[in-house]
Amino acid sequence: MLRCTRILTVVLLIAGATFMSAQKPVGPGHEWWKRAVFYELYPRSFADSNNDGIGDLNGITSKMGYLRDLGVDAIWISPCFPSPQVDFGYDVSDYENIDPMYGTLKDFDAMAAEGKKQGVRIIFDFVVNHSSDKHPWFVESSASKTNPKRDWYIWRDGKADGGPPNNWISTFGGSAWKLDPRTGQFYYHYFYAEQPDLNWRNPEVQKAMYDATRFWYKRGVSGFRLDAVDTLFEVANLQDNPVLPGTNHFGDPETDEKYNKKLPEVHDVMRGLRKVADEHGAVLIGETWTDNIAELKEYYGEKNDEIQMPMNFLFTEVNKISAPEFRSQIAAAESTGQWPVWVISNHDIVRSYNRYGDGQHNDAIAKLLAGLYLTLRGTPIMYYGEELGMENNTPTRKEDVQDPIGRRGWPEEKGRDGERTPMQWSDAPNAGFSTAKPWLPVPNSYKTHNVATESKDPESILNFYKRVLALRHKNEALIEGSYVALNEADANVLAYLRKYEGKAVLVVLNMSGAAQESNIDLAAQGLSNEKVRDLVNTASKAEKGKAPLKVSLEPFGVYMAETSQ
Ligand code: GLC
Repeated sequence: MLRCTRILTVVLLIAGATFMSAQKPVGPGHEWWKRAVFYELYPRSFADSNNDGIGDLNGITSKMGYLRDLGVDAIWISPCFPSPQVDFGYDVSDYENIDPMYGTLKDFDAMAAEGKKQGVRIIFDFVVNHSSDKHPWFVESSASKTNPKRDWYIWRDGKADGGPPNNWISTFGGSAWKLDPRTGQFYYHYFYAEQPDLNWRNPEVQKAMYDATRFWYKRGVSGFRLDAVDTLFEVANLQDNPVLPGTNHFGDPETDEKYNKKLPEVHDVMRGLRKVADEHGAVLIGETWTDNIAELKEYYGEKNDEIQMPMNFLFTEVNKISAPEFRSQIAAAESTGQWPVWVISNHDIVRSYNRYGDGQHNDAIAKLLAGLYLTLRGTPIMYYGEELGMENNTPTRKEDVQDPIGRRGWPEEKGRDGERTPMQWSDAPNAGFSTAKPWLPVPNSYKTHNVATESKDPESILNFYKRVLALRHKNEALIEGSYVALNEADANVLAYLRKYEGKAVLVVLNMSGAAQESNIDLAAQGLSNEKVRDLVNTASKAEKGKAPLKVSLEPFGVYMAETSQ
């Protein structure tokens, strides 16, 4: 009898599933992170609840409503774990706690609960390659050559002449080896000396790190952004890297980092982290700097068992508004057959407002970029303040610089302070971020480019973002639709369709400072001209009903419409 009931239940479940799938195809596009819009925020700079000049978790909690109204589904918070802050949190001294500067674990719980209420998931930033030199693991490891944690980091004898074990260079300047006089050995650090590299060849390290992700999954995070994954392994025999001509910003010789970067073992760790993530329905986002799209594709895993969302930084390397260049980057991403991840700014690169702005049409260009990366097939990751047209506030004097690489590399390398300034909430002093002097100054443009002012202006960048994000959330073609490039020979206008089940969204972007006209042959795509209905637009219009569809765009204008078969 019991068995019969079970069989009946199974039959009903299968029938139910078939019925549901007839209603809505359960395709790959239905995983939550494919529908979501992600938003990176730098916790020092987002919202300061206790007015000490530095942002905190309670501040983030207080802005959950803003994030929901904007159309954000998940926030990636740059590291907020206990840290001596040498690299502003990317030097972690405890992977399972919150830095008191940002709050407590209880504050985290409150933030996660509020996020749940508002439909905003939390993604944490996992610094996998290295810890802080103040992490108890490293403190123990450096205590003696026989300490049980000695092999948790990479220790080696120097050369006979007393020099470092090899010629590897730290990406933040100088040798990648530091001599520790206590044991007379060198330890390896790809980043600052205060960020010793963990030895991922040691199974105990792997277990400890996997467990740290479990800790946060159980506490409510929905995934991790994995920091600097390409630096996890080095060859065991520590061969010298080939020396190339020239020097870098810090005056070090250029080298080909073939023996300490992008080693194949990285993929084993990605699979390991993914296995744990899958136990919790979580997503992994990769800081995946690559030289080409084939390399990026590898991070998804041969069996799609590595990172679900490796970030496509090749896109950020298109540093000018150019229809052909963006078109070819999109085509490259599409050619992988994988789910793309679009990024235009982050805490390590100059803000898009400055990289693409021409000084005359900057706001129009900010909208144009939103019209692009929020409507492509794939998941976009915004950077806080992009929705306002926040600009970079690059320091002009060395003594003002906070980021150590800016002090070390001045004036060639000015550091990353400029892209990390406080969020601009209003036109009050310090952009309404804090009543105390913020840790970094806001640019003067905060007076016009801030949440309060822009909320009142229907034509603001903020309201444009909101409209595009709202559209993206309700229009199936923008989430599920295939990408079809149009008018591929056009040097000025980037046009494409997102096609889904007989319906389509048309996106036409004028990537030039001159007015343009674009003729779109919808019939050739099996779509109707008569059914064209305007969606979100700026500085553009279309003559409907006639074929081809004639779209007129002012400089950097955006035209979006929907149509169907
Ligand atoms: C990543 C982070 C960067 C940090 C570095 C070292 O590149 O994005 O901000 O300085 O890793 O952890």
